[in-house]
Amino acid sequence: MKKFTKTLAMVTAVVIAAMALTACGAQKKDETAGKSTDAAQTSTETKTIKFGTNAEFPPFEFVSNKGGVIGEFDGIDMAMAKQIAEDNGMKAEINNMEFDSLLVALQNGQLDAVIAGMTVTDERKEAVDFSEPYYTATQVMIVKNDSPITKASDMADKKIAVIQGYTGETVVKDMGYKYEAFKKGTDAIMELMNGKTDVVVIDKATAEKYIKDNDGIKAVEDSEAFEDEKYAVAVAKGNTELLNKINKSIEKMIADGTVNELAAKYAVAED
Ligand code: ARG
Repeated sequence: MKKFTKTLAMVTAVVIAAMALTACGAQKKDETAGKSTDAAQTSTETKTIKFGTNAEFPPFEFVSNKGGVIGEFDGIDMAMAKQIAEDNGMKAEINNMEFDSLLVALQNGQLDAVIAGMTVTDERKEAVDFSEPYYTATQVMIVKNDSPITKASDMADKKIAVIQGYTGETVVKDMGYKYEAFKKGTDAIMELMNGKTDVVVIDKATAEKYIKDNDGIKAVEDSEAFEDEKYAVAVAKGNTELLNKINKSIEKMIADGTVNELAAKYAVAED
């Protein structure tokens, strides 16, 4: 019996590893039914909006793990992307890539739009155009429950972790503190859990997800140090045709409560 259990555990481990590989390999995949290959893209065919995201940012975008099946891109932004496409009689295609690569991919035409919990900043506005904002966010500090950190300036002599290319990195840099930048939020959280770092600076809604998933950590806010941020969809500079479509859809989703509903739903959803 013991042996059987062990074998079963091993089989399960292999299956999970295989699924994890599938998830990693799933760099590109259609969100809505019906693939649009180049050959099939005729004038009678429904047009596709190529969205780019970085599915490492729950509750806005993550690779779902529903019923043990890994693979679907899910989250607030993913639902919005689908709706934006639908509102315009188009299909949404989701391209998953590193956060740092998103705006470059938009600029070189590889993507039509970026929906990635992306904060509007003056620097980014020089490179791309942003839609109407759809969500207000702020940075928070994730610390161990017994941490002495109660405000941003308490980080001065602490080990700080940020995520590469996120506004959290810019904010900490501007405060003049030293930090280490990680590729993924989960990597930074692991460092915190292992005691190798003292604080992780990241967007609040994502922080809340990590706190829900890990024992012994909490969020510390400092509204004087961390300003409000606005998330918006980005398109290539001058692509007003697509931007107008996106804006109409976003305005509708804000007015009819869709955005609020999605935010509430995914705040509690399992990812
Ligand atoms: N709001 C932050 C920023 O714009 C973090 C966004 C991270 N998004 C993601 N999909 N990984 O820099």
